[in-house]
Amino acid sequence: MKTVDNVRKIGIVGAGTMGSGIAQVAAQSGYEVILNDISDSFIQNGIAKIQKGLGKAVEKGKMTKEEMANIMSRIRGSVSLEDLANTDVIIEAILEDRAAKKQVFASLDSICKQDAILASNTSSIPITELASATKRPDKVVGMHFFNPAPVMKLVEVIRAVQTSDETKELVKALAVKMGKVPVEVNDFPGFCTNRILVPMINEAAYCLMEGVASAEAIDQVMKLGANHPMGPLELADLIGLDVCLNIMEVLYSEYGDPKYRPCPLLRRLVQAGRLGRKTGWGFHKYE
Ligand SMILES: NC(=O)c1ccc[n+]([C@@H]2O[C@H](COP(=O)([O-])OP(=O)(O)OC[C@H]3O[C@@H](n4cnc5c(N)ncnc54)[C@H](O)[C@@H]3O)[C@@H](O)[C@H]2O)c1
Repeated sequence: MKTVDNVRKIGIVGAGTMGSGIAQVAAQSGYEVILNDISDSFIQNGIAKIQKGLGKAVEKGKMTKEEMANIMSRIRGSVSLEDLANTDVIIEAILEDRAAKKQVFASLDSICKQDAILASNTSSIPITELASATKRPDKVVGMHFFNPAPVMKLVEVIRAVQTSDETKELVKALAVKMGKVPVEVNDFPGFCTNRILVPMINEAAYCLMEGVASAEAIDQVMKLGANHPMGPLELADLIGLDVCLNIMEVLYSEYGDPKYRPCPLLRRLVQAGRLGRKTGWGFHKYE
């Protein structure tokens, strides 16, 4: 079996917010990257985002134009999963949909090299279930990057029931090579970060709904009193209220524990299309 030193080519499936960020990090770390999505326009958007990010680093003098050109030359777009046949590690970052992810894992399993590692960046879908969609469950693992991937240091390495020690160690070493800090977590709903973070956001939504305090006040108390760099409602707006609601739904259904019931106000705002920064209005309004 391979070690991290044998990893040359990384496939990324999904060129959205996370996939493009992870592709940037991988290419910056010297890996050849194939960035896959369902249509060329999504890939071009992802590549444009990477170019913008690196362009800023050049402007600030943190990187030369040549370095940027070298990084970009390592990224190739693809609209066919078959193009990932020759990659060593594949990181899936498509939309958070269980059936779609299982389909991608089954396809990757039949296309990719026998010793290729299949990782998922899912925020909430059990890695154990994705592993079961393949005939190589020991080589399936969670590699949970945070947004924005080029900036955030943490990678939660999620071990499915079936993940081998070898696989887990390889992706931990890979995360280190990508300049990240891997933290090992077992496969429980919400893993670790989201299980703690999103119920806190949900509780903040309850505080607002029940009139405990205004949105501004709720954010202020957590910044000044708990030393959080951002208030929970501001953070919800950044993450996306739909994403927060989806994670609460997963926690609630998987644990069956009423402490995870989604706040009705959170649900209403999502129904109203107030999803946070991405729609210009969530708990707060944005210009
Ligand atoms: N955004 C975050 O803050 C964040 C943080 C950590 C993890 N995640 C997880 O990362 C994953 C991606 O999230 P995102 O925010 O980047 O989503 P996104 O909507 O920005 O991007 C998803 C991309 O996947 C593509 N896609 C959909 N189906 C596909 C398929 N079958 N094959 C190839 N590409 C496909 C879409 O076209 C889109 O470009 C999700 O599982 C999410 O839970 C998100």
